[in-house]
Amino acid sequence: MSKKNITLGEFIIENQQHFQYSSGELSRLINSIRLAAKVVNHEVNKAGLVDILGNAGETNIQGEDQQKLDVYANEVFMQTLINREIVCGIASEEEDDFVSVHGKTGNNENKYIVLMDPLDGSSNIDVNVSVGTIFSIYHRVTPVGTPVTKEDFLQKGVNQVAAGYVVYGTSTMLVYTTGHGVNGFTLNPAMGTFYLSHPNMEFSEMGNIYSINEGNYIHFDQGVKDYIKYCQSEDDGKEAYTSRYIGSLVSDFHRNMIKGGIYIYPKSKKSPKGKLRLLYECNPMAFLAEQAKGKASDGKNRIMEIKPTELHERVSFFCGSKKMVEKAEDFMNK
Ligand code: AHG
Ligand code: MN
Ligand code: MN
Repeated sequence: MSKKNITLGEFIIENQQHFQYSSGELSRLINSIRLAAKVVNHEVNKAGLVDILGNAGETNIQGEDQQKLDVYANEVFMQTLINREIVCGIASEEEDDFVSVHGKTGNNENKYIVLMDPLDGSSNIDVNVSVGTIFSIYHRVTPVGTPVTKEDFLQKGVNQVAAGYVVYGTSTMLVYTTGHGVNGFTLNPAMGTFYLSHPNMEFSEMGNIYSINEGNYIHFDQGVKDYIKYCQSEDDGKEAYTSRYIGSLVSDFHRNMIKGGIYIYPKSKKSPKGKLRLLYECNPMAFLAEQAKGKASDGKNRIMEIKPTELHERVSFFCGSKKMVEKAEDFMNK
């Protein structure tokens, strides 16, 4: 088969060789995520046709409205991973606490845990704008065969074994890394097959897109305000950057990785710790960014070196083209 037609299934098997003594467990896990992504994709794509829109009438632990597709996507990913007994634990943005997976025999020998944001950008569902799924995979740190504990989930991002996202957009893509670069696969909906369409994805060192919710401008720290003005300025022969902000982290990140740019969700007077979640959103995106030669920081520190203290912890997020993130850090450190 020519390299051009390589499917995600084939790619996963080929890549197993990167992991010495691999038991195939990680491959099976990524395969399960691929399956759940296809199921969610099917539902997302018919969202406009069925009476699935609107709030499910519940709020999640962070007091945010959950929309029906959030609940659905969470169910699909949780059940796919639980039923296939492919992990020993799961934590989700939509669940108050982590879930320990015991397996039918009560004897779960799996070594991986998954953390996920099952539907990212949920405020965009009912306006036909791209949403996504973010996932992050770690080895458990407690002994195999025992129930997982919080310690397994509160690991630094540097410990990630794999991470990725699915973007349900004009076409549906699955983009992931196992620490050997970033590869993107596009779903052929007629076949139900993901094909390698974006091998070795990389951020350019510099870009000209900045992505931030400027509606929060008056609440930002001075460093962020100054950096935004720098983005807009034409000083020293620099061209003004253009602004693009979808409001779906996955889609904003995806565009910036392809075109070159920086995504920022800083802490502010409105959200003193930031809005995005370290474990479900920032760490996986940071791993992808670094694997794609980009950078991710909280304005001062490398995202993946922050030691989490709680599951739903939030953090400031600066992510994208390396030189742009470094410049933003200069402003934050002034
Ligand atoms: P989620 O839908 O999982 O709650 O995430 C929404 C996040 C992220 O996707 C997006 O970049 C950001 O929130 C948008 O926030 P604002 O509407 O405050 O700009
Ligand atoms: Mn999200
Ligand atoms: Mn979400």
